Amino acid sequence: MNLMTTPKPKTSADMTVGGTMKALVYQGPGKKALEDRPKPEIKASTDAIVKITRTTICGTDLHILKGDVPACKPGTILGHEGVGIIEQVGPAVTAFKEGDHVLISCVSACGKCEYCRKQMYSHCTTGGWILGNKIDGTQAEFVRIPYADMSLYPIPDGADEEALVMLSDILPTGFECGVLNGKVAPGSVVAIVGAGPIGLATLLTAQFYSPAEIIMIDLDDNRLEVAKCFGATTTINSTDGKALETVMKATGGRGVDTAIEAVGIPATFELCQKLVTAGGTIANIGVHGKKVDLHLEELWDRNISITTRLVDTITIPMLFKTVGSKKIDPKRLITHRFRLEKILDAYETFENAAKTKALKVIIEA
Ligand SMILES: NC(=O)c1ccc[n+]([C@@H]2O[C@H](COP(=O)([O-])OP(=O)(O)OC[C@H]3O[C@@H](n4cnc5c(N)ncnc54)[C@H](O)[C@@H]3O)[C@@H](O)[C@H]2O)c1
Ligand SMILES: [Zn+2]
Ligand SMILES: [Zn+2]
Repeated sequence: MNLMTTPKPKTSADMTVGGTMKALVYQGPGKKALEDRPKPEIKASTDAIVKITRTTICGTDLHILKGDVPACKPGTILGHEGVGIIEQVGPAVTAFKEGDHVLISCVSACGKCEYCRKQMYSHCTTGGWILGNKIDGTQAEFVRIPYADMSLYPIPDGADEEALVMLSDILPTGFECGVLNGKVAPGSVVAIVGAGPIGLATLLTAQFYSPAEIIMIDLDDNRLEVAKCFGATTTINSTDGKALETVMKATGGRGVDTAIEAVGIPATFELCQKLVTAGGTIANIGVHGKKVDLHLEELWDRNISITTRLVDTITIPMLFKTVGSKKIDPKRLITHRFRLEKILDAYETFENAAKTKALKVIIEA
């Protein structure tokens, strides 16, 4: 089916008579398919139904497909990033109306619970990261967004949709979990371990604070090349196991003020523990599935801080402004584009990033 030419129902009246849509469905570990699914409907008065115009695939979707995220049950539509047009709003939604152009946060927030009041939206007692995890997500023609007033952001006229897709998850993740938690400061020396989309988003947003050095470490020369273009002062391919030695040489034996872990495996968190200088910060971003050793026998007297965080997306409004004023250009992370009907090809490309050089793939619904 050619989605570009197939007319789609536009009105909320059409929604009530049902109808189907295309959606990428998780069918259990290692299995996914593009299926015809019923269009979502308003379930709570605070919901909105959004017609997706652009979405993308995240490394976390690959974690789900590996079976690493048991909360995500077979039958769930994947995807937690995207932009679209509001199709319908529940009666309690006051900030948005039908036809509004919106950015979807990967985190849904009620705005009222104890955690939301502390701006820890990721820990919202009835929301958090549920989209494409505990409830159906954005890799579809339509999605139901709970707590629409808090979980959607208005897109100004003329804004670049593709760039904004990067604001649903990866830019706030890099900035909140890496840059803010890592206390990146003017003149500081930063190492980012992992040059995937998250590591690169961290690299882009770290430069708001003018650190003196940003050292990027990865195993993939192509990604390190991209990191150079994005402002890394030094890039290190750690395949030879000598990243620590190289960083120490580059910093006169001192180490780094901020070591940011953006991979999610024991080896890279252990490397961060060795890279950090006295008084520095280790900011973990990676999702860890395995136990990691903490070397307090070496770190107890080093005055360091270790932070962890699930992205809250509280910085989306700020990041919007930096994209609008061209301080950063997250569109540079986009390497491939597909139609929704070709989403299986998009997954194939994204899963084979070393070969395809994929960073972020845009899916047009
Ligand atoms: N904390 C959060 O809220 C949050 C949000 C989103 C994603 N994440 C996590 O952030 C991590 C990075 O995400 P991504 O999408 O960029 O993942 P990715 O898999 O695309 O990138 C990881 C990068 O690490 C590199 N790498 C692998 N092993 C390495 C090693 N031993 N040494 C150096 N580099 C190595 C890979 O070559 C790759 O470029 C993942 O664990 C993801 O699940 C966390
Ligand atoms: Zn994600
Ligand atoms: Zn809440």
